[in-house]
Amino acid sequence: MAVKSLQAIFLLSVLCFGVVSYASFLSTQGRWIVDSSGRRVKLACTSWASHMEPMLAEGLHKKPLKDIVAKLVQLKFNCVRLTWATYMFTRHSNNTVTQTLDNLKLAQAKQGIAQNNPALLSMTHIQAFEAVIDELGKQGIMVVLDNHVSNPKWCCADEDGNGFFKDADFDPTEWQLALSFVAAKFSSKNQVVGMSLRNELRGPRQNEDDWYNYVLSGAANVHVVNPNVLVILSGLNYDTDLGFLKKKVVDPSNWNNKLVYETHWYSWSVHANTCDETINVVYDHALFLQDGAQPVPLFLSEFGFNQTGKNEADNAFINCFLTGAAKYDLSWSLWALQGSYYIRESKLDYEEVFGVLNADWDTIRNPQFMSDLQKLHPIK
Ligand SMILES: *[C@@H]1O[C@H](CO)[C@@H](O)[C@H](O)[C@H]1NC(C)=O
Ligand SMILES: *[C@@H]1O[C@H](CO)[C@@H](O)[C@H](O)[C@H]1NC(C)=O
Repeated sequence: MAVKSLQAIFLLSVLCFGVVSYASFLSTQGRWIVDSSGRRVKLACTSWASHMEPMLAEGLHKKPLKDIVAKLVQLKFNCVRLTWATYMFTRHSNNTVTQTLDNLKLAQAKQGIAQNNPALLSMTHIQAFEAVIDELGKQGIMVVLDNHVSNPKWCCADEDGNGFFKDADFDPTEWQLALSFVAAKFSSKNQVVGMSLRNELRGPRQNEDDWYNYVLSGAANVHVVNPNVLVILSGLNYDTDLGFLKKKVVDPSNWNNKLVYETHWYSWSVHANTCDETINVVYDHALFLQDGAQPVPLFLSEFGFNQTGKNEADNAFINCFLTGAAKYDLSWSLWALQGSYYIRESKLDYEEVFGVLNADWDTIRNPQFMSDLQKLHPIK
């Protein structure tokens, strides 16, 4: 097609749909994430697990994919942190969803998918993953792809073999291969705005030298394969600690405005008496990155609580989180969207009480919290 007519079509689509919302790649400007015209973008995400044994985004046996995504839109999330496992791409890429469900003896899940999302059953895991990304894009939701584990399963424990480079299930070469593959595979999809290199580094092998060595080479690899995505780096100790970067700074100017850090914050990750003290600890471990001479954005990529009811500890935690997230004007991702798992830790249809949705994948677990969270959206 001639360039002229392409331009005409582009112009037409802009006129028809108003703004092309995320349809420009994101980059960083100091501590802010911005779009291609320099306007601030705040990621208001929820995590959607797709890294567990079935290697399929959760809930597709309960509701049609497009309905789940419509729910996200209705709840005013603008982004999903979609998790994936290394072996989905390096070892199981030719297996179909049906084959895996049969191997796992998940007959009910299979039947539910046949009813709600029949087209997915004959797809490979990669095709099904792509179908989810496509639907998110179609409904205007941005996507951060998060390498969550190597071996598809519930995460995380110190000794689960997936915690740090050279653990039993964490071969750095295989990880790099998967990162390159994923970066290349989805590089044409504008809705994929970021890639998180690895969730919650942890365990007895973790050390700063290997962090600089492997994490930075993974980042360079992704950046070369897809220079458009934000490259998101996680800290040590279950992604609660980036404090070591004070001693040995990573120069953000080498990253063409694509470098972002991420941290996790739960009630159990900080032990302090007051909210002020808690925020000080988070500042010292992570928030400091947004200040100083070479500021970079920080993505608060996991937080959450048992949304079934609130106990005193959850109340204190979530109030403090909302205070801190508003004060530091953060991009964030709530754990989690899913109201249940096909299977988790050997239990079928495991309910996720941290989930936005109930186990029916239709009703909202905690509407009051959803409205509190929406107050964090506006850009100051
Ligand atoms: C998938 O199949 C292709 C073509 O047969 C093969 O080259 C590739 O190695 C297979 N991948 C995996 C992970 O088994
Ligand atoms: C979540 O909270 C509910 C209500 O307080 C409680 O019954 C349930 O045991 C909690 N579940 C978990 C996993 O904490």
